[in-house]
Amino acid sequence: MIIDNQQQVTDAVLRAMAATPDTRLREVMAALVRHLHAFAREVKLTEPEWEAAVAFVTGLGQATTDTHNEVILASDAVGLSTLVCLLNNGDTGNSETAAALLGPFWRMNSPRTENGGSIVRSPTPGAALFAECRVRNAAGEPIAGVEVDVWQASPAGMYENQDEAQADMNLRGKFVTDADGRFAFRSVKPAGYPVPVHGPVGAMLKAQRRHPYRPAHLHFLLYREGYKTLVTQVFVDDDEHLESDVVFGVTRRLIGGFTAGSGAAPAPDVSGPWFALDYTFVMEPGQAVLPAPPIK
Ligand code: BEZ
Ligand code: FE
Repeated sequence: MIIDNQQQVTDAVLRAMAATPDTRLREVMAALVRHLHAFAREVKLTEPEWEAAVAFVTGLGQATTDTHNEVILASDAVGLSTLVCLLNNGDTGNSETAAALLGPFWRMNSPRTENGGSIVRSPTPGAALFAECRVRNAAGEPIAGVEVDVWQASPAGMYENQDEAQADMNLRGKFVTDADGRFAFRSVKPAGYPVPVHGPVGAMLKAQRRHPYRPAHLHFLLYREGYKTLVTQVFVDDDEHLESDVVFGVTRRLIGGFTAGSGAAPAPDVSGPWFALDYTFVMEPGQAVLPAPPIK
């Protein structure tokens, strides 16, 4: 079609894509074009602004490496990852969910660790943490044999892949729930940390006068045939950034279960303050699928 004016562009594109045989791809792309064009019209997007947008997206790719995923970070920082998570969990967005965004730091093949073992694999400062967790179905029955990936930043605020001072796979581990649906591990109490700000997402946050902090949390990925893979996070109850998580990951259900230990710690080598985490995960029936790992 020969285009006479700006009003005709959207129809021309929609017609050009109309023969896409994959019906879902056709539906998604048509909606994307309609919304994208409506957005450009609403804000009267200028040519320099379009150039800035192209540079931003180009920068996302250029800042992405085997150990850092700037594209996921961008999706997280504009709330898209949390929106997609909440739309697809909790009875497809109709009820509360125990799920949360994956984030850019999950790695496949975390070391298998025995129940009760430690995920501290190199000297790591911080208060000891003893986690005792359960996995249940909606009826409250235990689920045995769930593979549980755990990962967290060190109390200095960095994941091992960002930090040469930590051993490979430090603060990462994979557990399997026992016959009572339980798994337990030792770690260090996580601290809040800033998301990486060296790339375009950092520039965006700065321009928007937003802080880059996430409240302290542990990540979990629970996998078992017959259940929807549960990707989630559990947040330290009293973190100052619970209300302003830069990636919008905090829901009420995910706060809590951390308590300061009193008396002797459950391990003889702990002399200072220590903490306990007591948390119950609930899995929904569904398909067990692993996400694509954001980094290697
Ligand atoms: C994380 O919690 O690991 C995370 C999530 C989103 C962006 C950056 C980090
Ligand atoms: Fe994290």
